[in-house]
Amino acid sequence: MELKDKVAVVTGAAQGIGKTIALKLAANGCNVVVSDLNIEKLNETKKEISDLGRESLAIKANVAVCAEADAMIEEGVKRFGIVHILINNAGITRDSLLLRMKEDDWDAVLAVNLKGVFNCTKAAVKHMSKQREGRIINIASIVGEMGNAGQANYSASKAGVIGFTKTVAREFAGRNITCNAVAPGFIETAMTQALPEKVREELARQIPMGRLGTPEDVADAVLFLAGSGSGYITGQVINVNGGMYM
Ligand code: NAI
Repeated sequence: MELKDKVAVVTGAAQGIGKTIALKLAANGCNVVVSDLNIEKLNETKKEISDLGRESLAIKANVAVCAEADAMIEEGVKRFGIVHILINNAGITRDSLLLRMKEDDWDAVLAVNLKGVFNCTKAAVKHMSKQREGRIINIASIVGEMGNAGQANYSASKAGVIGFTKTVAREFAGRNITCNAVAPGFIETAMTQALPEKVREELARQIPMGRLGTPEDVADAVLFLAGSGSGYITGQVINVNGGMYM
């Protein structure tokens, strides 16, 4: 329980990778503020955290809206007095080839995946700065590093997250705050279940380890970056992709 009584905030924690991260942090001793648009499912995450014997607060918030991100962090700080760890996980896709991509699809993906990370980080780092302690972990993506046909908006947002991560790492290193990105490859969640079976099989063929990743694979890397063994690691992108991109 090396993270005993640390306070973590996880966005997009109602399902998938975010939920798995929230539960893993709780299992390792954290009290967790979980946030999402889907409050019904989020309450299930909250209950599972309580079942692990940890405290949890579930907050409905749209990370793309600055005032909602601010209020979410402030509520968390009001409840627990502090925020040690922020996991920027909320993300969406609106895939199509560039020539068919609508302006709305571009704007929506950039608003959640990139501006959402800015909104939540700015709100949390204010408190971390005063504490002179903090860990920020941003969930990027393999496609932010290598691109992917049909995902111009998504890959741009995730490449943006990587640039943002490195800048925050530089700005706050002196305050004992680290900021890193985890870049998952293709992971078994609702996001990839939306892909046709043939596409999933083709993807698996491109992965040296021969399988898609699991949310646990991603959460394990996040746990490492949140823990005491990674205090001198900042501004890095940890790839969790079965060797698909090196
Ligand atoms: P998911 O779709 O299963 O879960 C995403 C969660 O974020 C949902 O609960 C959703 O309600 C929430 N969310 C969406 N928009 C939001 C908003 N504006 N404000 C607050 N919450 C919002 O997705 P998954 O697969 O668990 O992905 C989690 C993160 O991992 C995302 O950032 C995604 O881009 C990234 N990722 C996923 C990969 C995969 O293969 N599944 C691969 C690489 C990165």
